[in-house]
Amino acid sequence: MLDKLKTIKTSFQQDIAAAADLEQWEAMRVKYLGRKSQLSEVMSMMKTLSAEQKRDIGKQANEVRLYLEAVLEDMRNALEAKGAHANQIDVTRPGVKTTAGHLHPLTRVEDEIKRIFLSMNFSVVEGPEVETEHYNFDALNIPANHPAREMWDTFWVKPGSKTAGAPRNLLRTHTSPMQIRYMEKHTPPFQIIVPGRVFRYEATDASHEINFYQMEGLMVGPDVSLANFKYIIEEFFKEFFNDPDMQFRFRPSYFPFVEPGVEVDIKRKGDSKWLEVMGAGMVHRNVLKAVGYDPNIVQGFAFGMGTDRLAMLKYKIPDIRFFYNGDLRFIKQFKK
Ligand code: PHE
Repeated sequence: MLDKLKTIKTSFQQDIAAAADLEQWEAMRVKYLGRKSQLSEVMSMMKTLSAEQKRDIGKQANEVRLYLEAVLEDMRNALEAKGAHANQIDVTRPGVKTTAGHLHPLTRVEDEIKRIFLSMNFSVVEGPEVETEHYNFDALNIPANHPAREMWDTFWVKPGSKTAGAPRNLLRTHTSPMQIRYMEKHTPPFQIIVPGRVFRYEATDASHEINFYQMEGLMVGPDVSLANFKYIIEEFFKEFFNDPDMQFRFRPSYFPFVEPGVEVDIKRKGDSKWLEVMGAGMVHRNVLKAVGYDPNIVQGFAFGMGTDRLAMLKYKIPDIRFFYNGDLRFIKQFKK
């Protein structure tokens, strides 16, 4: 009887491969599991056996039956699926809701900033995230050992070359190096903004991250003045925060690559205190000279603002780390 069970299984395996439609499948089911099948013959012969043989053979027969049922079930599912696709689409079945993604809040804010500056005839340019010491510091009037380097805690990149004096690389600490790269290749007048990711070797807290985003601005041409800067930046913030009556304060400040340097504070409808929103100033004569411009003929202003910070102010986000921790409960609130 054990041999018989084995034969049933092998001949089933050969037969079933040939079942090409549901009709053949049904014939197969009757042949192997029906009342007149060889398997049920074995089952009915069991009563003639001793209790011990019954246990042994009964177990094997049951295993064969379960196997046949499982294979037949899979086979039917496969045939039905094939049939449904080949022959008809059931248009009465309920639809499946598709889920579309959406932009990250920082991307949205960056796009909004770009939109406003593009409307004022600025161009958008981008630069590398791994920079040389030269562009990130020296060319911006911040030589090695200048105390101002302490304003930017820096991630240095492990040198590829051990040669003494080989240029050192770093993760850019601000988007300002793009001022130099752009001026080297272009002749004024021009006005650009530079969105980009920047890096600071700092402990993180609610308002500090080791990487964040900045938006740099640079406008150079004959007679470009701080008054031009004031007008453009006030227009920008009023539009960005949708608050035409907001107040501005320009405080003297220090950045080695501008002279004079300022920090811009805003106070919107409902703000109880001044909020610092950007560093800026007139491009330093040394910087203009270093890129081959004559500072007696062209002048310019530059500014740098934190995209994350603007997003936090606009949407009342209390912690910069929300932008980066990937928590969808946060991100999904910014679906348009
Ligand atoms: N690069 C400066 C910073 O990251 C900001 C700045 C840009 C200041 C341009 C003045 C002019 O702190």
